[in-house]
Amino acid sequence: LFTGDFKGTVLKNEIKGIDCYQEDESHYYIKVGGGEVWHDFVLECIKNNWAGVENMSLIPGTVGAAPIQNIGAYGVELKDVFYKLDALNIETLKIETFTAEDCHFGYRNSVFKQDLKGKYIIVNVYFQLNKTPEFTTTYGDIQSTLEKNGVTELSIKAISDAVIEIRQSKLPDPALIGNSGSFFKNPEITTRHFNEVKKQHPELVGYAISETQTKVPAGWLIDKAGWKGFTRGNIGIHKNQALVLVNYGDGNGKDIYQLALEVQQSVKEKYNINIEPEVNII
Ligand code: EPU
Repeated sequence: LFTGDFKGTVLKNEIKGIDCYQEDESHYYIKVGGGEVWHDFVLECIKNNWAGVENMSLIPGTVGAAPIQNIGAYGVELKDVFYKLDALNIETLKIETFTAEDCHFGYRNSVFKQDLKGKYIIVNVYFQLNKTPEFTTTYGDIQSTLEKNGVTELSIKAISDAVIEIRQSKLPDPALIGNSGSFFKNPEITTRHFNEVKKQHPELVGYAISETQTKVPAGWLIDKAGWKGFTRGNIGIHKNQALVLVNYGDGNGKDIYQLALEVQQSVKEKYNINIEPEVNII
C-alpha cells in the first residue's frame, strides 16, 4: 500500500518459465520464473496433473512474491509444496539458494518479511508437486461447493474450480476493484486471552492452533465491529469479506491507511485484540 509517492526505482519482475526439470517415484520438480503470474502457474499444474497447488487457485500476484509471505488458502500454504528458491542478493548481486528451512516460513511470514526484508529479489521458485494427489477438503466451504457441484470423484481440477467459485463469490477481483486481499492477518492469541474475551463476548469464534494458542478470524472481528460494507468516499471495507479494504476509484493510499488504523483501533476497543496488517505499508 503506497501512502505517498515512492522516491526510488521500482523493478517489475518479468522472469518467466515453467519447467518440470526432474521427477522421482512420487514427485515432479518444477522450476518457475519469479515473474510468472501465480494463477497461470496453478492452471499449468492442473493441465499437467501436478498436484498440490490447487487449493491456492486464483490468488493474485506472482510466483516470486508467493514465498515472501508464504501465501495460503483453504488449508494449504506455499511452504507445503515449496522445494527451494533462487534469490538475487541486492548488495552483492550474486544469486543465492534458499531451502525451506532458510526461509523460516510461518503464517503469512518468512525471513523475507523479517531480517532479510528488502535485501533480495526472488528470481526462481522450485516446487515439489505430487504425482498422486493428496486432497485437502477440510475447509467447510470446499466441501459444500463440491457437493453443490455434484462432484462425486475428487480431482485437482474439481478442487480448483470450487476454490475459484468460492473466491469469486467472496473476494473482489483486483482487476475491477482495487484491493490487496486480506488487509489484516488473523491474530493468534493465547487461549487464556481468548477465553477472557469470550466471557464478555460469548459469540466470539476462534480455532485452537496449539495447546496454548488460538487463531481468531480478523474478518469476523471487523464484521462484528460494524465495518462490513462501510464506505468513505471512494474507499471502504468490502461488503462480502470484512478483511478486505477496497479502493473503488481514485481513493488514495493515505486514506486507506487511515481507515485501516481506525478499524484496528475499533477492534482493539471492542475485543481487546490487536490485528496486524498483512499488507506492506510503504
Ligand atoms: N467472517 C465473517 N465476516 C466476514 C469475513 C469472515 O464473519 O466479513 C468469518 C467467516 O464466516 C468464517 C471466518 O470469519 O467463520 C473465516 O472467514 P474465511 O473462511 O472467509 O477466511 P478468512 O480467515 O477471513 C483466510 C485468509 C484468506 C484465505 C481464506 C481461505 C488470512 C488473513 N486470510 O481468510 O487469504 O483466502 O482464509 O483460506 O489468513 C489473503 O491472505 O489475502 C487471503 C485472501
